[in-house]
Amino acid sequence: MEKFNESLSFDRRMWREDVEGSVGYARALARARVITNDERDALIDGLGEVGKEWERGAFAAKAGDEDIHTANERRLTELIGDVAGKLHTGRSRNDQVATDTRMWLRGELLRIRAHLRTLIEIAVDRAEREVDVVMPGFTHLQSAQTVRWSHWLLSHAAAWQRDDQRLGDMIKRVNVMPLGSGALAGNPFGIDRQLLAKDLGFDGVCPNSMDAVSDRDYIAEASFWASMTATHLSRWSEDLIVYCSQQFGMVKCSDAYSTGSSLMPQKKNPDALELLRGKSGTQIGSLMAVLATIKGTPTTYNKDLQEVWHAMYYTVDNMSDSLQIAAGCLATLKIYPDAMERGLCAEMLATDLAEYLVRKGVPFRETHHISGAAVKLSEDRGVPLSSLTVDDLKPLCAAFDADVAEVWSYEKSAESRDTEGGTSRRSVLEQCAKLRAYLAAN
Ligand code: ARG
Repeated sequence: MEKFNESLSFDRRMWREDVEGSVGYARALARARVITNDERDALIDGLGEVGKEWERGAFAAKAGDEDIHTANERRLTELIGDVAGKLHTGRSRNDQVATDTRMWLRGELLRIRAHLRTLIEIAVDRAEREVDVVMPGFTHLQSAQTVRWSHWLLSHAAAWQRDDQRLGDMIKRVNVMPLGSGALAGNPFGIDRQLLAKDLGFDGVCPNSMDAVSDRDYIAEASFWASMTATHLSRWSEDLIVYCSQQFGMVKCSDAYSTGSSLMPQKKNPDALELLRGKSGTQIGSLMAVLATIKGTPTTYNKDLQEVWHAMYYTVDNMSDSLQIAAGCLATLKIYPDAMERGLCAEMLATDLAEYLVRKGVPFRETHHISGAAVKLSEDRGVPLSSLTVDDLKPLCAAFDADVAEVWSYEKSAESRDTEGGTSRRSVLEQCAKLRAYLAAN
């Protein structure tokens, strides 16, 4: 039962927050005149000692240390004697654990946010530097239209920006203090929760003591955020896995993020990207674990809630690793602009051919049909669409003129999509500028 019940083996990771939370609570007890200032100082000194033991790896867990809270209080009692027994006045492990985890999580999420921002910056840097490079854009993974390589990069950065916004928004909800809720009914000693919250770096206090000890929605939200972000990383990885295959040859992962095969000497596999894609699955599973664990718990604390910490630790570790690996992959990725251009074909300008006719006043629905007929003609003849002459095209539509030759430029095709959010150089650089402004302002 002890082995089944204990959580010290994993919640020891938040020893620092448990100590800090207790220091803050000792101060709150003294302010409320529940303990004397001398008692407060004894508690704070003792807690400092406990923290130092953890810091230098000297904290000795003992049989019966059920979790980080009982372990720290047991050690505090050994160090300073009976006065340690005053620390838990009006407090419960129920409000304590919710407080510790929120403190721990906010710190980790801030670190993770910095990694996400680094990834976005790398994408923007590359997008600006490599703005000249054009590549095939796909729908259904079939050649569709010409886009800038930068535009593809920024398509993922745009999703990462929303991930960053969601994260910033979530941190506000994580950073609310449960302490002072007691086991469930509130604190009977008149501690000033607002002051305590300020002292511990919280933005506010949980508004209802029963809710404060009941809910783990902040863990579910963190797991969802991570699942969504990991899903974005997975889709991004999938693109690059396709682009780096020999048949595409548009990019290559650096050696640092690839591995070889134990059998085939020529292999260089994009393992980092495949692991990003794979780990998103485990991450989504952890969200399901949290929701399934909490959905049937009666109001206030039940031991089921201890199970959700596994998802919290996985979420933090996975996202910290995944975002740093993704940033490293992207920063060191080699691109092959020639191969990207070779991937373009004249048929990808069929839409541009229709648009040429639109500019001559032909209704789009007709132009779509006419351009389709031109594609069929070139296919029947076994020649590229761009080799059709005005004389070939005239029978399909009288509006074709000698200037149709200007349609056959991939660069021009990209440049024509100059509306906000498009793939023209100006539009892409504008997207970069907006992302930079966002990062600077938030
Ligand atoms: N280790 C417990 C957890 O992580 C702490 C709270 C225990 N509270 C209780 N009433 N048994 O959930």
